[in-house]
Amino acid sequence: MYQQTHNFSLKSSNTFGISAIAKHYLTVDSPEELIRFLRENNPAGKEKRLFLGAGSNLLFVNNFDGLIIHPEIPGIRLITENKDIVEVEAGAGVVWDNFVDSCVKKGWGGVENLSLIPGNVGAVPVQNIGAYGAEVESVIAEVRGVNLDTLENKSFNPAECKFGYRTSIFKVELKEQFMVTSVVFRLSKQPEYRLEYGALETEVCKFGEKNLQNIRKAVIAIRESKLPDPMKIGNAGSFFKNPVVSEAAANALKNVYPDLPVYPVGSGLVKIAAGWIIEKAGWKGKSIGNAAVHDKQALVLINNGGASGKEIFELSEIILKDVLLKFNIELEREVQVIGD
Ligand code: EPU
Repeated sequence: MYQQTHNFSLKSSNTFGISAIAKHYLTVDSPEELIRFLRENNPAGKEKRLFLGAGSNLLFVNNFDGLIIHPEIPGIRLITENKDIVEVEAGAGVVWDNFVDSCVKKGWGGVENLSLIPGNVGAVPVQNIGAYGAEVESVIAEVRGVNLDTLENKSFNPAECKFGYRTSIFKVELKEQFMVTSVVFRLSKQPEYRLEYGALETEVCKFGEKNLQNIRKAVIAIRESKLPDPMKIGNAGSFFKNPVVSEAAANALKNVYPDLPVYPVGSGLVKIAAGWIIEKAGWKGKSIGNAAVHDKQALVLINNGGASGKEIFELSEIILKDVLLKFNIELEREVQVIGD
């Protein structure tokens, strides 16, 4: 089935809780229905498009003057299984953390470190979500979807997805053109645990032996202690990316700030903790109007109630400029700004 409405309020469709209106809003429950809609309605080719999952990584700064497509494609389906691995397909509309929960319960490893990340499966490869030493690209076998320009189904293997840090081909070259309808994950029945990140291993041990269930519990406990629950406080997780700089630039900063957290990522490049820098610049817990910097994690901007998208954007601009001035580092937004 597909269903189109007009002048649709997006307030409960984005985790920042921003009021904005979509000119057209479409829900589809299968790839075939998306293609049927496109054939029957022939939407004006030049109209802007946005694929919207749970709205947990975007900021509306204006009304959306185009077509929003919200996939409500359900289902988790076992495709193949042997003694070592399983391949499972999940629909774009499946809530990511429900998928993680079901994998952990079945003893399938590979996504447990990504517990409690908000959002739906459709957005997971687009963003190449990551947390606690794991990135989802390491368990993706295939990304399936529809090209809205050619009305064709297409499947991408991992190399074709061009995954990078919080990015992929779907976010860049194929933005507005290719909608993910399902993702095939390859998970392990003999998982190797990844516990090196920060205090993860210590946290896991608090719950008992090292197993998938306890890793999931530990990740949830860490996230809940630092990150605001979007059901209670509007936010979109990390607002900025952790910048990747040259070793020389990182060393220069380390000379001035010896306790700056840095993570070598290979090829002479180093990722530095933007949250630490924003805190050091004095922004943690600060607010301007109804927009604020979270008091437990400076990388997260929050809506203290009634903030407009522009207000939150303005705060991010001020932080960007201040960090550039104080640290000579150009932060990049991780959250997608819509309507600027
Ligand atoms: N830090 C501070 N002050 C802060 C925030 C962080 O000093 O206000 C320091 C921490 O003490 C730590 C370092 O910065 O030494 C890194 O902090 P943390 O482990 O909290 O992770 P992060 O770099 O801030 C990234 C991801 C998160 C992910 C966590 C855990 C990005 C942009 N963010 O945050 O992802 O959950 O690692 O793996 O890569 C998201 O993408 O929305 C998100 C929440």
